Order: sequence, then C-alpha cells, then structure tokens
Amino acid sequence: MVLSKTAPGSDASDGSTLPSGYVRHPLSRFKMPERSLSKEEAHQTIKEELKRDGNPTLYAGSFVTTARMEHECDDLILDSLNKNCVDVDEYPATAELQDRCINMIARLFNAPLGESEGATGVGTVGSSEAIMLAGLAFKRKWQNKHKAQDLPYDKPNIVTGANIHVCWKKFASYFDVEIKEVKLREGHYVIDPVKAVEMVDENTICVATILGSTYNGEFEDVKFLNDLLLEKNNKTGWETPIHVDAAGGGFVAPFLYPELEWDFRLPLVKSINVSGHKYGFVYVGIGWVIWRTKQDLPEDLIFSFNYLGDNRPTFTLNFSKGSSNVIAQYYQLIRLGFEGYRNVVESCHRNAMVLKKGLEKIGRFTIASKDNSLPVVAFSLKDHTKYNEFDVSKMVRNFGWILPAYTMPSDAQHVAVLRVVVREDFSETLAQHLVLDITRVLNELDQLPPKISNGHS
Ligand SMILES: Cc1ncc(COP(=O)(O)O)c(C=O)c1O
Repeated sequence: MVLSKTAPGSDASDGSTLPSGYVRHPLSRFKMPERSLSKEEAHQTIKEELKRDGNPTLYAGSFVTTARMEHECDDLILDSLNKNCVDVDEYPATAELQDRCINMIARLFNAPLGESEGATGVGTVGSSEAIMLAGLAFKRKWQNKHKAQDLPYDKPNIVTGANIHVCWKKFASYFDVEIKEVKLREGHYVIDPVKAVEMVDENTICVATILGSTYNGEFEDVKFLNDLLLEKNNKTGWETPIHVDAAGGGFVAPFLYPELEWDFRLPLVKSINVSGHKYGFVYVGIGWVIWRTKQDLPEDLIFSFNYLGDNRPTFTLNFSKGSSNVIAQYYQLIRLGFEGYRNVVESCHRNAMVLKKGLEKIGRFTIASKDNSLPVVAFSLKDHTKYNEFDVSKMVRNFGWILPAYTMPSDAQHVAVLRVVVREDFSETLAQHLVLDITRVLNELDQLPPKISNGHS
C-alpha cells in the first residue's frame, strides 16, 4: 500500500507497536485524520472499537454463517481478496469456478439439463440481489408478452404471502411492481396456496413462494401451489410462473428432505434463489439465482461489454464483485459434497429439536415453527400478563445472547415470537445453555412487579 509521508516525530514510521496510540490521539468520528497513523495504531484503534460488537456465535437470530470456515478455505479467501470477479479474462479460473457452482446448484435443484449442459444462473451478493434479478426477468418477460399481444403492460404485480422478506418490498418499490399479499392468521404463518391462486390475475408476473420463511423457518407448499396454478393457467391461458425464494431452504431441503418436491421438478417453477451465506456455509456476501432454462431469462436484460477484453455477457446489479466468496462457495461444495452438507444440516436439525424439546419442557412457550422445515425454533410466551417476548429478548442479553423478538406480519401482527436459527456452530451444548439461560430469565421476570400495560410493546 502506498502511504503518504508521515509527520516528523510521528509514531507511524518506527514500526513499533503502540498499544495505546489511539488513546493519545482520539479520532474524530466525522472527519478523516490529517495525519497518517501507523499500521499498529490503526489496527489497535479499530480492534478496540470492534469490541463493542456482539459475539457472532451467540447471535441466535441470524441466518447468516457465523462459524469460522476451515483454515484452508480462509487461505483461499485471502489469496483472492484482490481479484475482481467481473474480470473474467484476467481471472478465467475464478470465472470457471463460479460457473461450476451454478451448474452444481442447478442440478441440486433438479434443473432439466443434459449431462454436460451449462446451467443458467448468476452469482450475487446475497438472496436480495438474486431476487431483484429474478423479479426483473419475470417483469420483462411479462411485458414483452403483453406488448406483443397489444395488452396493457404498466401494472405488473406479484402475488405472495405477507411473510415475504423485506427485499421483495424493496424490489417492488425500486422496480414499480405491486405486491399482492395473502394475509396470515394466528397459528398459520405461511402462504395459503388457494388464496394466492385466487389473487392471480392477467397482470401477475409471478407467484413468489418461500422455502423457509424468515419468520419461523416454515416451508410453504410449493407443490400444491404449482398444481392449483397449473389448473388456473389451463383455464385462463395466462402461463403465470412461480419463483421459489429458497434463501434458507435451498441448501437444506435437498439434503434433509430429498423427496420433497419444491424445485424445478415442478413445471411452473422458473427460477430459484438461495443464499450461499446461510446454509451454504460461506461467509456473508454470496447468493445465487438459477433459472429453469436459458429461455426463462429474457435476452434483452443481458448486457455485453468488451472493455476488459473479450465480449462478455453480464446480468447483475453490480459490476465489480469480490471473488473470495465465490471461491469459498466452491470450496464448500467440493469439500463437503452431498454427504457433508447432509451431515451438517442433519446435525443442525438435531440440535434444533434439542432446543425445541428443552423449551417445551419449560412449559411456558408455544412453538411457532415446524419440525419438517429449516432448523429454526420460533416460540411465543403462553402468558403475557407480566411480561412479553421483548422483555425476554432484552434480559437474555445479560447472558451474552442476542435473541430477537418481533411481531408476525399481517394479519397475525398481534403475535410476537423469539427466533433461534440453529446454524452449524450452534451445538447441542449451546442449545442446552440457551434453555437454562431462558429459564433463569423467566425466573427473574417472574419476581418483578407486573407492568402497568401488558401485551407487546
Ligand atoms: C426468505 C428470505 N428471502 C430473502 C432473504 C434475503 O437474503 P440475503 O440476506 O441473502 O440478501 C432472507 C434473509 O434472511 C430470507 O429469509
């Protein structure tokens, strides 16, 4: 790194370690410092700042990988930090590994491909970017069709459950698409396929369904939705497709529930997104979107550029992108293989069941998640007379846990839950500790005088 000359007498040039350098010259939070710092000062200062962060392993609510990857993978990641993934001429091997990931994931999702046929897909920053791209492809396809048929093409909509992730709302707002939500009700926290299909009209660009709801990890019934929508399409001639948001479930269902039909085995499923940084077991910053066939991605969305050498096609929201996470995803796919992924998600599921049983044993919670879905345990208090889920969330922080409480979407917004996402680094021992710590919190809360107002704050 080129560093400007440091002021005479500054500590920056002597290379010595200055453990308290940051204390002597407190840095402005608003303005870049005039002087350079030594590398030790910069490192120490930031290390001190970061101590205020929580412990990622104890962040029980996060879907994102918090386990450290293997040393060998970290080594590959460090080696590729300076490679821009978009420079495929400069880094053809990285580009090839990205293509291999797409091919492997497409086959995991049962895309109808010949043995050595390349799949259609894109590596993204996460599921949010993947969903933007999939949504754009549906919108453009629908618009092209309506234009060709001289039909109005200015009011596209997506039908989905009220439990969609916020990134769908961003997509709708950024790209002018209406979201038609199927409302939930207490005890039923995923899309009702019958109601969803009733809401489909000639302007519906796709029905978006979720394999692993953010709120409680539950899988939606994609097969039932597919069958109902096929019937409606046959009657109306509309050809409304399905997108599966498998941000969490894409790397769980193929290993835990291989018989479950949720993917390209169903004819109306035209695209699927998955987060590599959730149950794909890669550090944050990687997702994938896969299309059923090449024809499901409109060609007019693909841009070509030649300023990095050869003519290259691109369909992403960003241009430049780091290579490390792509390489890390490839590492996990070949290092774990089908067997390894199955072992890890089976272990997550086992630990989720340990946690669920422990919570049930306390006798104070209603479980809002399902056993045959993501390894997620969502739970609500049965009795709200003295305190609520938000109080439990706040108090359990005293034991180091970050356990989010939140309300369900409409029309179940009066229900609050606490959510634990059981990840690779959430061991059986941690599950037992969490149950013990929650029990302690309940005992402490029981001793407090009743609050003036009850219910969820
Ligand atoms: C169902 C669902 N879709 C999309 C997303 C967004 O994923 P990402 O964080 O990879 O952008 C999430 C995140 O948790 C999710 O649960």
